[in-house]
Amino acid sequence: MHRARRHSAVHSTVTETPVITTSGLSKVYRSRGREVTALDGVDLHVREGEVYGVLGQSGAGKSTLIRCVNLLERPTSGTVTVAGQDLTALAGRGPRAGRSLRQARSRIGMVFQHFNLLSARTVQDNVELPLEILGVSGRERSRRALELLDLVGLGDKAKAYPAQLSGGQKQRVGIARALAGDPKVLLSDEATSALDPETTRAILELLRDLNRQLGLTVLLITHEMDVVKTICDSAALMRGGRIVESGTVPELLATPGSELAQALFPVGGEPSAADRTVIDVTFHGDAATRPVISELARTYNIDISILGAAMDTVAGKQVGRMRIELPGRFEENVVPIGFLREQGLQVDVADTAQPAPAAATLLKEGAK
Ligand SMILES: Nc1ncnc2c1ncn2[C@@H]1O[C@H](COP(=O)(O)OP(=O)(O)O)[C@@H](O)[C@H]1O
Ligand SMILES: [Mg+2]
Repeated sequence: MHRARRHSAVHSTVTETPVITTSGLSKVYRSRGREVTALDGVDLHVREGEVYGVLGQSGAGKSTLIRCVNLLERPTSGTVTVAGQDLTALAGRGPRAGRSLRQARSRIGMVFQHFNLLSARTVQDNVELPLEILGVSGRERSRRALELLDLVGLGDKAKAYPAQLSGGQKQRVGIARALAGDPKVLLSDEATSALDPETTRAILELLRDLNRQLGLTVLLITHEMDVVKTICDSAALMRGGRIVESGTVPELLATPGSELAQALFPVGGEPSAADRTVIDVTFHGDAATRPVISELARTYNIDISILGAAMDTVAGKQVGRMRIELPGRFEENVVPIGFLREQGLQVDVADTAQPAPAAATLLKEGAK
């Protein structure tokens, strides 16, 4: 019974309506005669109700992208549209536009890595801060703040001060504060990278719950692949200020040669001899439970070695990857490979002369 309830609660409600769109977004920083292109023509499309993860090494432009999405950073060129409103146009209309931009921004919540709480204010007063700025009356502020603290599981900490809270609790306050303006969109820049793994999981589950309960769209930056596997509907990989790969997680897994897929499902294993063909087979859904490998061995009467394998649940679906070795060179294995593809499996012929792609290092880079 418990399972059934969980199940009905986990359905996300992603629609095709774009809620965050950037087009041709560029940002060039100029300081002391030096130019740094932090964003180089980014086209990002985040759909309503999805959790969208941005990955990439330190310096790739992730933070700049998120800061441009709420116009904390002014793009050098390109446009940013959030919930149907062109923020870049608002920002461009001189000082009088300030008010409309502030209003539009109140519909975009932001969660920070280092929480950014005011230490002299109580938890409740921290959550009320954005409501004060919006000119909400004292009673309504207080009602709303307590409601939000309940929502993030901190109903009993309203009168505490940030210093009396754990890291995870501080981030919950940060999330409650980000929700104060009743945003459509929540932006999160490495919100969990200062937290231990267990707290990270709890915070991510909270973000996922908020996404589902409130229909909140979440754009988050992370360097943890587990985060992507656990909570993201879609993901993008950034490098050198550009998005080099993007799509829904199942789409990425079904894309031959996808670095993100390889990073989500690292399968290793070296061939045992030179005249071997090494292939990576990705199983989705039903195919994951069929005995295709033994069928292959029987049909072609070949010996197959399994070099590496991984099974996981991604976006609620069972996905597996297996690296196998077939005797003989690629040319001799065209037919068996075709057989696997006909079974609906995705087959990538591994270039074992190359080490695993850069995506592997993508995970090791710390937050900046
Ligand atoms: N305020 C700034 N002034 C000058 N250069 C900056 C500034 N912010 C970021 N950069 C540069 O822009 C690039 C992208 O940075 P950032 O968006 O922080 O990357 P990431 O979040 O992926 O680590 C880096 O080369 C960084 O040094
Ligand atoms: Mg950053």
